[in-house]
Amino acid sequence: MREVMALAAAVDGSSSFDSLRGMHQKLDDFYARGYLSTWCESVRPEWTLFLHEVFTKDIPTLLPSHHLKDSDQVGENAFAPTTTTTTTTTVSSKRVVDLGCGPSISNIISASAWSAHIVMCDVLTSNLAEIAKFRSASEDAFSWQHYFAFLSTFESSTSKVSRRGQEEDEGQEEEEERGENCNHLGTKVGPLLSPEDLEERTREAIQEICHCDISLPGCGLPERLVREGDLFEVGVASLVLDVVSTSEEMFRSALENVKGILKPHCGLLIIQGSLGESVYTVGSALFPVMNIDEQKLRQLFSEVGFEILKWQICQAQSQHYFGLLKVTGGTSKQMILKSRGGSRGEGDQ
Ligand SMILES: C[S@@+](CC[C@H](N)C(=O)[O-])C[C@H]1O[C@@H](n2cnc3c(N)ncnc32)[C@H](O)[C@@H]1O
Repeated sequence: MREVMALAAAVDGSSSFDSLRGMHQKLDDFYARGYLSTWCESVRPEWTLFLHEVFTKDIPTLLPSHHLKDSDQVGENAFAPTTTTTTTTTVSSKRVVDLGCGPSISNIISASAWSAHIVMCDVLTSNLAEIAKFRSASEDAFSWQHYFAFLSTFESSTSKVSRRGQEEDEGQEEEEERGENCNHLGTKVGPLLSPEDLEERTREAIQEICHCDISLPGCGLPERLVREGDLFEVGVASLVLDVVSTSEEMFRSALENVKGILKPHCGLLIIQGSLGESVYTVGSALFPVMNIDEQKLRQLFSEVGFEILKWQICQAQSQHYFGLLKVTGGTSKQMILKSRGGSRGEGDQ
């Protein structure tokens, strides 16, 4: 009965970050396995292809491999970007963080084409344990073969990236011998990466698995990962911001926390969420999600300081939005200082 009342309170927007986090933590032992069997047994093709397009086409154009630093500006138009580079400073590497990753690596398979430094984080121990099992190729790890097989029909062997983040030519000749191939859309894509290559690339790209809490400034990430001047180039937040928050105020605050760990002016956020929904299921358990419409959501992105570069609505069992957003302001330093008890006004905005 108490759970039903808690859910009702969450759905009508009167819950807090603590109560929502508590609902997940209470079912931690069950959550990862329940989520994998409820949501990960088959490929979600629209979202998976959105991620593929973003990581293999949009992001390489928006954030080219030459050195960027926090003061760099990337142009407003995602498809004709202008980049003003004023730097001689090298950033560590192209880093991606998957916030609230759950027990799933499906959102970072395409990311590993662009980045060899991916941080996986979540609030639940059971989810992090599943990611660790995948990374160590443990025998009882969940099998993601269906995702690797699906995506391997879209990835050319030229996108192979090593742990050091360098393009690899090795073995290319051998792969070229595989000749022309067609993907699921019937498009010729040339020599392809094998599912095994994709799995290896994804596994190698996972550099950190750590706890986070998006309701906290800095997303509760370890300080060493969100150092001033070396924030994340790209964040992925799939089906998580509207799980962490059930009201506009909470969503705004969580989104500010996410913005605070992305590079000012050019950091990118790839986001998925639901529209007009109020609950999601994990097995027989029900969890609240924020019920919001598209117009209000777009307004929140703009208010917090994100520009929408790419947007897609997908109608499947429920209505989902997929977005590629760019940080427009420079509040990152300020947000992190706020979280660590530093004084206001030291930020660069
Ligand atoms: C619906 S699942 C999404 C999982 C995965 N991102 C995906 O796309 O399949 C929501 C995730 O948010 C996580 N979560 C809930 N509250 C959180 C918080 N305060 N901070 C970080 N993650 C949180 C849950 O543990 C769960 O893994």
